[in-house]
Amino acid sequence: MAAARLRTGDPPPAVRPLDPPLPDDFGDPIAVIANAHARQRALGGRLKQAAGVGEIGRADADPLIACLGYELPQHHDDLDCDLFPLLRRRILPEDALVPVLARLAEDHRRTERQAQAIVDLLAADPASDPIRLTDPARDLFLAQAALTKRLVSLESGIVLAIARVRLTRADLKALACSFRARRGMEAS
Ligand SMILES: [Fe+2]
Repeated sequence: MAAARLRTGDPPPAVRPLDPPLPDDFGDPIAVIANAHARQRALGGRLKQAAGVGEIGRADADPLIACLGYELPQHHDDLDCDLFPLLRRRILPEDALVPVLARLAEDHRRTERQAQAIVDLLAADPASDPIRLTDPARDLFLAQAALTKRLVSLESGIVLAIARVRLTRADLKALACSFRARRGMEAS
C-alpha cells in the first residue's frame, strides 16, 4: 500500500528535474532536438530504475509526467510536422531515408500512447509517495525505456546526421521559427 506523501508539517519532497535542463533559446533547431534526446535518455534511465525497484518517488515522478505528457508530443510535432517534411524535400536517393522517416512517425504515435498510459498511472494519486508499480506497470516502463532508446539512437545517429548535411541555413531558420511558435515564443 502506498504511503501518504505528507504529514502535517512535512516539507514537500524536492523535485528532481531531468538533466540536462531545457534550452533557454530555441534558435538552434538541431541543438533543440539533441537536447530533447538527452532528456529522453535521462527519462529512460529513470523508468528503468523504477521498474527495477518496483516503485518511484514523487520527486522523480513529477518531472516524468511533464516530459512524457508535454515535452514528448511537442518534440514529435517538431519532427513529424516540421523536420521530416523539410528533410523529404532535401534528401538525396542515396540517403535512403524515406522509409526510415515513415517508420519513425509510426513509432512516435506508439510511444505517445505508452507515454500517456504512464502519465495516467503516475498522476492517478498525487498524494502517493512512493508510487508502487504493479508487474504490468513495470513492463510498461521497460517497454517505454526500450522504445525511447531505439528512437533516440535512430534519430540522433541517422536523421540528425543527415539533417546537418542537407539542410540549408534558411531551412534551419524556418525550423527555429516553427519550434519557437510551437512553444508560444516570439520569432527571434
Ligand atoms: Fe526524437
